[in-house]
Amino acid sequence: MRGAAMSLTAASSGFVVLLLTVPVIQGQRDWRVFYSRTHICASKGSTVEIHCSYRYPSITNGYYTKVEETFWFTKSINDAPLDLRTDSDYRGRVEYNCRTWIICTLTIRDLRESDSAEYKFRFTTNQGGKYTGEPGVTLSVTDLQVLVERSSTQTELKCHSSCKAADRPSYVWYKNGLKMKEETFSLRVSANDDNSYSCALKGHEDHRSPPVYAPKLLTVSVSPSGEIVEGSSVTLTCSSDANPAANYTWYKENDRKLPSQQPQLFFFSSIQPSESGEYYCTAENEMGRRTSAHVFIDVKYAPKLLSVSVSPSGEIVEGSSVNLTCSSDANPAANYTWYKENEDSPKASGQIFTITDLRPEHSGNYYCEAQNTRGRRNSTLNLTVVAGKSVLMINIIRLTLVVLMLIPLVVLSLWTRKKKTLSLNSEPNEAVKMMEVDSCPGYENSTTAAQTQEPEEQEDLV
Ligand SMILES: *[C@@H]1O[C@H](CO)[C@@H](O)[C@H](O)[C@H]1NC(C)=O
Ligand SMILES: *[C@@H]1O[C@H](CO)[C@@H](O)[C@H](O)[C@H]1NC(C)=O
Ligand SMILES: *[C@@H]1O[C@H](CO)[C@@H](O)[C@H](O)[C@H]1NC(C)=O
Ligand SMILES: *[C@@H]1O[C@H](CO)[C@@H](O)[C@H](O)[C@H]1NC(C)=O
Repeated sequence: MRGAAMSLTAASSGFVVLLLTVPVIQGQRDWRVFYSRTHICASKGSTVEIHCSYRYPSITNGYYTKVEETFWFTKSINDAPLDLRTDSDYRGRVEYNCRTWIICTLTIRDLRESDSAEYKFRFTTNQGGKYTGEPGVTLSVTDLQVLVERSSTQTELKCHSSCKAADRPSYVWYKNGLKMKEETFSLRVSANDDNSYSCALKGHEDHRSPPVYAPKLLTVSVSPSGEIVEGSSVTLTCSSDANPAANYTWYKENDRKLPSQQPQLFFFSSIQPSESGEYYCTAENEMGRRTSAHVFIDVKYAPKLLSVSVSPSGEIVEGSSVNLTCSSDANPAANYTWYKENEDSPKASGQIFTITDLRPEHSGNYYCEAQNTRGRRNSTLNLTVVAGKSVLMINIIRLTLVVLMLIPLVVLSLWTRKKKTLSLNSEPNEAVKMMEVDSCPGYENSTTAAQTQEPEEQEDLV
C-alpha cells in the first residue's frame, strides 16, 4: 500500500511540477526544432529532402497551444523570414510536407548551385509564439567532377565536389556506367586505361559526374573534301571525344611532328606538291593518348618543268631516224601530243615521237603539248635534217657519170662544127673577099689569112 501511495504521489507531484515549470521553460527547452542532419551535400540537378521535427509547450498561459503556420526560409526581408514558397528563386521547386503534426519535410527539386544556403524551419502558434530552429541545415549543392592526376605509373581519380569535409559525403564510382564496389573519395586506375569513370554522391546516384576517359573515335577530316589543287588552301581537322579535353599534335609520315598552329587544326594557306603525303594526329589527355588513321594528301598540279629532247643528239642526217622525247612533272600524269609548226593535226601522241627515214622536209619546229586534268603546257624543239655522206657520194658519182657521158657529146658536136666551118670557108670568104676587094683592096690578103687560120686554132683548143 505504501509503495503504491508513494508512486502515486510522485506521479501527481511530477505533473504539478511540469505544470508549474511551463512558463519558466517556455522559449527554452520546450520550444525546439530538431534537424536530422545539419550538413547536406547534394549534386546539382538532384532533389534533396530536409527533415525536421519540432516541439512546443502544449499549454501556454493556461490555454492549449495550436501551431498555426510552419514554413522554411533562408533569407529575411526587414527581419521578416521569407517563406521559400514565396521566394521567386525557388518557384515551383519546393514542397512542404508535415506528415504528423511535428515531423516536417522540405523537398527542393532540380537543385542549383545557388541553392547552397542555410535552411531554417519556423513555426508560429495561436498564442503569438514564434520559433525558428537555429542553427539550420547547411545545404551544399555541388557540381561533381572527376579530377585526374596522372603519374608515370598510374592514374588517380578523385571525385571532386565543393562540399566541405563537414558534409561527410560518401561516394559511388561507376566504370563504363556500371556501379563499382569502391566508395572512397579517390580511385586508382592504370595509365592508359580504356574505360570511362564517373562518380556520384551516395544517395544521389542519379546525378553523376560527367565520365572521364581517354580520347576515342579519333578522326581526321580534310577540307575541301574533293581534289586538292596546288595553291589552294587546305585544312586538316583532328577531332576526338575526350574528357578531360584532349590536346592535339599533328604529324607527317615518319613521325615528323608538325609545328602546332591551332590546337585541332592544321592549315595550308597555299598547298604545294612537296606537301603531298600522309598525315595523322594524336590526341592526349590525362587518361591516355590515341593516334588517328593516316590520311593521304595528294596535291594535283598542271604539267611543269616541261622538257623536250632529241635522240640521238648531234647532227640529224637524212635517212636516219630520231626520237623526240617530251617529259614533264605533273599530277595526275600528263599525256603528250606532238605537233609540227604550221600544221593543225597532231603528228603523234605519247611521250616519244619517232621519225624514221628522215627527209629534208622533216626539218622544222616541233612542239610537244603535255596535258592533264589541271592544265596544259607546250615546249618547242627545232629539227634540222642535213644531207647524209652517202647521199653526197651518190651525187658525186652521178655528176661524174654525167660529165663522162658529156665528153663524147662535146667532142662530136665540136667535130661536126669543124666540118661545117671548113665547108663554109670557100663561098662566104670569097664573097667577103670580093666585097673587100671593092671597098678596101689593101686588106685583101691579111683578112683571108686570118679567116683561114681560125678553124685550125679552134681544133687545137679542143
Ligand atoms: C598534352 O596533354 C598531356 C596530358 O595532359 C601532357 O602531358 C602533354 O604535355 C600535353 N602536350 C601538349 C603539347 O600540351
Ligand atoms: C627510240 O625509242 C625506242 C623505244 O621507245 C628505242 O627502241 C629506240 O632505240 C630509240 N631510238 C633512238 C634513235 O634513240
Ligand atoms: C589527255 O588528257 C586530257 C585531260 O585528262 C584529256 O582531255 C585528253 O583527251 C587526253 N588526250 C589524249 C590524247 O589522251
Ligand atoms: C604554248 O604555250 C604558250 C604558253 O605557255 C601559249 O602562249 C601558246 O599559245 C602555246 N602554243 C600552242 C601552239 O599551243
